[in-house]
Amino acid sequence: MSYPEQVKIVEVGARDGLQNEATSVPIDIKIKFIEKLVETGLSVVESGSFVSPKWVPQMASSAEVFCGINKKEGISYPMLVPNMKGLEAALEAGVKEIAIFAAASESFSQKNINCSIEESIARFQQVVATAHQENIKIRGYLSCVMGCPYEGDIKPEKVVEVANRILNETGCYEISLGDTVGVGTPIKARNLIELISKDIPVEQLAAHFHDTYGQALSNLHAVLECGVSVIDSSVSGLGGCPYAKGASGNVATEDVLYMLQGMGIQTGVDMTRLIEAGEYISEFLGRESGSKVARALGK
Ligand code: HMG
Ligand code: MG
Repeated sequence: MSYPEQVKIVEVGARDGLQNEATSVPIDIKIKFIEKLVETGLSVVESGSFVSPKWVPQMASSAEVFCGINKKEGISYPMLVPNMKGLEAALEAGVKEIAIFAAASESFSQKNINCSIEESIARFQQVVATAHQENIKIRGYLSCVMGCPYEGDIKPEKVVEVANRILNETGCYEISLGDTVGVGTPIKARNLIELISKDIPVEQLAAHFHDTYGQALSNLHAVLECGVSVIDSSVSGLGGCPYAKGASGNVATEDVLYMLQGMGIQTGVDMTRLIEAGEYISEFLGRESGSKVARALGK
């Protein structure tokens, strides 16, 4: 068994974490939240999405949020983009990195972005053709890799097929595997990575696990053993997908960091500051942190 020596944490709290919040979070709070996340030592802080405000009202302020961040050299602030309209808005705001997002489930693709998997890949090809010309970095997401809220089990072979297509047909530098509804379990997670990594180098894979069934940390441990070294997480365990009923938050960044520290894996992230960032947003939302570590170590 060997684990990576270093893990890159991709903080998704300001996007995945907030997108499903019923309380509208003001622009200045989002900006301060993102800046606090960067102060923790995180190098990738996803900051919003250029999607339809009718579909995801909370993300309607993403351009203002992105423009208002006091950006630091060397930090990535990726923004989700579903189509050309989103890309145009992202370019106008000066975004340097985007994330495109597809699904391994037909039903989820329809519910989430109102098109089939095939149509989504065609849309993303158009998006990336322009993005590459503009020197924009592109990350890819694939949802429902361990199950779908509408279809149940998704065949690993289907996941591998769509993952390969996204990577090969869009030129993403990395593909983040979403357990969108948190239904996966460790052996399933390990088997999936073993299968995908026959085609895609493990260095290009990221784990994006929601914690609905309390399995996310165990699943992460399983995929770390396969060499996955990029983990998406959300401070305070904020979040859920608006088109995945019952999906609770992403695994909490504090809990991931605690586990990685215990394994001697480097991340460059400071726990005290991370807990402060989580407290900042949890206090605004009027809610106790969803991170067990933050509850044990915080104020
Ligand atoms: P549509 O209705 O099929 O799009 O939505 P359309 O092209 O027919 O346009 C309809 C209207 O939307 C028009 O406005 C467009 O201008 C507008 P109207 O004329 O009716 O006033 N529109 C837009 N407005 C702003 N920005 C845009 C945009 N595009 C069209 N980019 C669309 C298609 C993809 C836009 C829609 O389905 C959508 O916005 N979906 C949002 C999906 C979303 O954000 N989901 C959550 C993120 S994914 C996720 O959480 C999973 C992940 O975390 C991984 C995991 O956990 O698995 C990444
Ligand atoms: Mg997600």
